Amino acid sequence: MKLFIDSGNLRDIEALVPLGIIDGVTTNPSLMAKEGGDPRAIIKRICEVVKGPVSAEVVATDWEGMVAEGRDLAAIDEHVVVKVPLTRDGIRATKVLSDEGHRVNVTLVFSPAQALLAAKAGAAYVSPFVGRLDDIATDGMDLIRQIVEIFDAHEFATEILVASVRHPIHIVEAARLGADVCTCPTKVIDACFNHPLTDIGLAKFLQDWEKAQAARKG
Ligand code: E4P
Repeated sequence: MKLFIDSGNLRDIEALVPLGIIDGVTTNPSLMAKEGGDPRAIIKRICEVVKGPVSAEVVATDWEGMVAEGRDLAAIDEHVVVKVPLTRDGIRATKVLSDEGHRVNVTLVFSPAQALLAAKAGAAYVSPFVGRLDDIATDGMDLIRQIVEIFDAHEFATEILVASVRHPIHIVEAARLGADVCTCPTKVIDACFNHPLTDIGLAKFLQDWEKAQAARKG
């Protein structure tokens, strides 16, 4: 399973990429608004750092506007994936952009039927939001299970990109279910590193090593 960073923050992205665990980045208008500055310049820099798929979202709501904006975003860098919302216009724009050879990530997906429409329109990625479903007492991971089943049965090439991730268990469940990608805020990726037994174990190894060194010298 590929691991993407769900952020528009260059500093956070630059800190994680050298670890060799990051395959791409997703952004959305809320994340980009938080960063301020020139969004096109930020997307360009993220592409240079990550050298993998970087989703940049349109803000137009009509299909012609989405297509024009999508072409413009795709021109920023070869790594840009055009992100469009799952609306009727979004699906129409997905079909046009995909037919032109642009990769499209269909976002704000909350049902298997919506995921099916995105795949039919030729989306490269479909983004089901697990956390926002959990927030309303609906099992987000059950949505992933259903989409995996449908895409496997019909051999859709569209990748399942698990989004709205809130904690490491979401990452583990996404991997167990066979999702293609999981996009995570940096704090969730950071949380994956932590285990108290690792800290205790390392402290003990180093302590034993120091003791042995001191005994040899003394
Ligand atoms: C997906 O690509 C979105 O950017 C994101 O995962 C939304 O997550 P949120 O529900 O934490 O805003």
